[in-house]
Amino acid sequence: MTAPAHERTSDDLIKAEEPVLAHNYHPLPVVVARAEGTWVEDVEGRRYLDMLAGYSALNFGHRHPALVEAAHRQLDRLTLTSRAFHNDRLAEFAERLAELTGLDMVLPMNTGAEAVESGIKVARKWAYDVKGVPADRATIVVAAENFHGRTTTIVSFSTDETARAGFGPFTPGFRIVPYNDLAALEEAVDETTAAVLLEPIQGEAGVVIPDDGYLAGVRELTRRKGCLFIADEIQSGLGRTGRTLAVEHEDVVPDVLLLGKALGGGIVPVSAVVARREVLGVLRPGEHGSTFGGNPLAAAVGTAVVELLETGEFQRRAADLGQILHSGLAELVGRGVTGFRARGLWAGVDVDPAIGTGREISERLMREGVLVKDTHGSTIRLAPPLTITADELRSALGSLEKVLGAGGR
Ligand SMILES: Cc1ncc(COP(=O)(O)O)c(C=O)c1O
Repeated sequence: MTAPAHERTSDDLIKAEEPVLAHNYHPLPVVVARAEGTWVEDVEGRRYLDMLAGYSALNFGHRHPALVEAAHRQLDRLTLTSRAFHNDRLAEFAERLAELTGLDMVLPMNTGAEAVESGIKVARKWAYDVKGVPADRATIVVAAENFHGRTTTIVSFSTDETARAGFGPFTPGFRIVPYNDLAALEEAVDETTAAVLLEPIQGEAGVVIPDDGYLAGVRELTRRKGCLFIADEIQSGLGRTGRTLAVEHEDVVPDVLLLGKALGGGIVPVSAVVARREVLGVLRPGEHGSTFGGNPLAAAVGTAVVELLETGEFQRRAADLGQILHSGLAELVGRGVTGFRARGLWAGVDVDPAIGTGREISERLMREGVLVKDTHGSTIRLAPPLTITADELRSALGSLEKVLGAGGR
């Protein structure tokens, strides 16, 4: 008979997954059982500093008291209605999210990939209904090395062969240009272009930050050429970079904003397409939807997330603590680190391959009680909860220094 989970060790549980769980991930060998704030605890009670924060889904830390309280209060009242009926939480969520982002209308969805899919559909519909692109001719221009999710349409315009191989045939209508290259974008956008879809900072690619002026340039180009600018801020948004949105670093307001991850407070999946009225206004009843999108539990948690961001505290923390992160990483350059890119509390750190792969460094950090995740060979990504303290951050940097063997300068 299978032993109840609480009697099984981490090793037992990892072995038990093997025959019954699809192998689409290669997790670090840590089995998390509890968490609070910046810390998680495994089955055996070992504690780890969470320096990944669920790929930014846990920007406010694990089980933030205000978010847990909002969820509990809503669980006791109403959880799901479907959009067949109105619910009493959705209006406030949409009003406050629109206000926070400086846009007009909200289309609530659940996962990030759904927000991207929805953004693509809305942009195409806008191209036909408003711009006058001939039927089925709309194109969307995207960047190489992008990461926007895992659906068939989204991997259709991925440049990562691992994400694509074996999943064709793919959705047509996408043009791929190099990231951070305005001249290439200028050439690719034509009268069929519905939108340019970009991450303001490419997260999965290794926290790749475009040159100053690129995002403002994309804004100017898309406006001049009469197509939409869709900013995928699913990972970069909601405080991570020291601003509510990463596009704010260049004072850019996109036509369409895609949000996810932290919008659900690390409790429930909540995503949204937020846009100008002229764009989201193209949708009519029956043309798009989701059974769970905008459910009252999601709306209650999402509203509590927006409320936290309205204070500006988390954006400030990311900016201030980001200074510690950046200077700590700068000191490691040449001592195990070959380079890094960082904005706010978000960094992609390239490790000298002679010291280890990103995976090996992540495993060594895990044994030091710090959780991170590698991306692309020898790069590790740091994205701690924005609630992390200066001491916790310094301690994580100390652990990184130790596992890189950079201690004896
Ligand atoms: C920029 C970006 N867009 C979309 C997604 C997809 O989100 P989800 O995994 O919730 O579908 C991600 C996930 O990492 C992301 O980083």
